[in-house]
Amino acid sequence: MLQPINSSFKGKDIVSLDQFNRASILRLFKEAKILKKIPTKKLLNVLKGKIATLIFFEPSTRTFSSHSVAFKKLGGQTIEYQNPLSTSSSVKGETIEDTVRVFEQYADVIVVRHPTKGTLKKVADAVRIPVINAGDGIGEHPTQALLDLFTVWEKHKKLDNLKVLMAGDLLNGRTVHSLIRGLSMFPKNTIYLLSPKQLRLSKDDFEAFSKKGVKLVEIYSAKDIPTDCHFWYWTRVQKERFNDKKEYEKLKLSFVLTKKLVDEKAGKNTLLMHPLPRVGEVETELDSDYRAVYLTDEVKNGMYIRMALFKLILKTS
Ligand code: NCD
Repeated sequence: MLQPINSSFKGKDIVSLDQFNRASILRLFKEAKILKKIPTKKLLNVLKGKIATLIFFEPSTRTFSSHSVAFKKLGGQTIEYQNPLSTSSSVKGETIEDTVRVFEQYADVIVVRHPTKGTLKKVADAVRIPVINAGDGIGEHPTQALLDLFTVWEKHKKLDNLKVLMAGDLLNGRTVHSLIRGLSMFPKNTIYLLSPKQLRLSKDDFEAFSKKGVKLVEIYSAKDIPTDCHFWYWTRVQKERFNDKKEYEKLKLSFVLTKKLVDEKAGKNTLLMHPLPRVGEVETELDSDYRAVYLTDEVKNGMYIRMALFKLILKTS
């Protein structure tokens, strides 16, 4: 069973956004906001003597490095495995449960990324120390959603009554799966879902998310993007989830975020967001747009949100 966070993060796994509610999300944001204001050298005692193990079975740039830097900024140390299938005993066929049980003996927390949906739940069940989901296949990516929500909250000062556009690979994109869960906890949010028909949310996800109270509107043409959204969340078509590479080539640039589209449809306060990496679906010309936060606020906030999470999960006093 996934533990709800409620009022305490202490000792808890972070596997799904479903463990959160409005209060726990805002509690985390309060902590991240405080940490943002404290000079780094004053934080070095927070996790002094603690060890985090990072095991990433899939490639990662930001999620891996920001967990690593977040833990170190709080004075902790890390054991890091990128690509364990070529460097650890996983290559010999060791189960992930055995691998994490070993790290449980050394570490205070384990951060895992894995290509198979549902694996993080298994990992969390296998060990007693807290486990953080850094992405499980097409399942979820809760810390990415938390940093995205934090970025929206900082800029718009609210997480309710939002008009949102999500574009790209909604079927396979784990970041959108967690982000929709997060937005569904706050009232009166409407999300316009722009994707090719082949990459829309699965029927099960669409129904489950709708039941949570968020209004989902599927659109299939950029012409139907409503004006003045609070934010646009663009995503990459997830090449690694396709069996048919020709199909990927056909769909990969179905929707591109261009300056022209922004000029036509975005408002002056529409944040331009993307979890990265981008592979052609966002024009680089937009990088200097004052509304673009994918290479700036989202990245920086990723570090602070993870610092806040580690602190709330592990702090003894
Ligand atoms: C995302 C992921 O791995 O799910 N990247 C990230 O963690 N920031 C998005 C992606 O790979 O497209």
